[in-house]
Amino acid sequence: MAEIVILDRTAAGELAADVILALVARKPDAVLGLATGSTPLAVYQALAARGADLTDVRGFALDEYVGLPPGHPESYRAVITREVIEPLGLNPSLVRVPGDRGPIETAGDDYERSIVAAGGVDLQILGIGTDGHIGFNEPGSSFESLTRVKTLTQQTREDNARFFASVDEVPVNCITQGLGTIRRAKHLLLLAFGEAKAEAIAAAVEGPVTASAPGSAIQLHPHVTVLVDEAAASRLSNIDYYRYAWANKPAWESL
Ligand code: PGA
Repeated sequence: MAEIVILDRTAAGELAADVILALVARKPDAVLGLATGSTPLAVYQALAARGADLTDVRGFALDEYVGLPPGHPESYRAVITREVIEPLGLNPSLVRVPGDRGPIETAGDDYERSIVAAGGVDLQILGIGTDGHIGFNEPGSSFESLTRVKTLTQQTREDNARFFASVDEVPVNCITQGLGTIRRAKHLLLLAFGEAKAEAIAAAVEGPVTASAPGSAIQLHPHVTVLVDEAAASRLSNIDYYRYAWANKPAWESL
């Protein structure tokens, strides 16, 4: 079962930074799976403040819009550059974003080959959408899916409209790591904050394993850490047990 830790956004960012820095201390060229969106900013801000040398770290972004003009400030390549590569001092040539080379028709397979060639993702940072998506794997996505072009739900386009002048400017298509890709990562670190995420978190952690709740794919993974604030945790039935388990975690056991 996933380890559920309930703490505020700042503390979650600090704990995630601890986990990442412990990984990089063991493996300086660790492979990180990088999520965009508001949620993981807590992690990147905490990591940037630590000032660690991350120049050998390799990164694979989870997803990207399809159809934005190159260099668009809301393309995930631009967002990853602004929010992750620059503040953390990553080497841009070691960070890939889906669809960043070759024709879009073969970009998914190319991305999968690159992840395998890198030895796989060591730690995948994840947010979750209000509709339960992880990456841009919308409800119905196969648990075996790999990186491919998909169509965003209207709800996701509306959720992301805050980054654009209007919802009509949010692309309809995207390219995303699949649930199968995400499941191959060695450690999943899922973060969620706020009441709007409570239902998606309950479905992911405690609901039936179903393609209708893409986040529930985490139940099939042997090493998952879920960092949630009180509001995002508010619909979890077994919350008392999660608190109890965290309070009684053996001192020798890492996250
Ligand atoms: P958010 O997005 O972190 O901006 O809420 C999460 C997601 O859509 O996966």
